[in-house]
Amino acid sequence: MATNERKDITEITVFSNGPLKVSGNFKLTGSNLKLIETGNEIYLCRCGGSANKPFCDGTHKKIGINDKNV
Ligand code: FES
Repeated sequence: MATNERKDITEITVFSNGPLKVSGNFKLTGSNLKLIETGNEIYLCRCGGSANKPFCDGTHKKIGINDKNV
């Protein structure tokens, strides 16, 4: 698939000891139902440590996220 080709499906990938990668055509809304993001690729925090939730900011590398505890 060409890099500029739009995906027909949304893929969610769990990174071991890291974030969730969401790619494809999606819309992310907050608890207030306001649109946060649309697009082709984002990384969502799974460790709870990000200062930029719901997005991953790399903090999981510092706090040592462990899939056994998530
Ligand atoms: S998973 Fe990366 S900051 Fe939480």
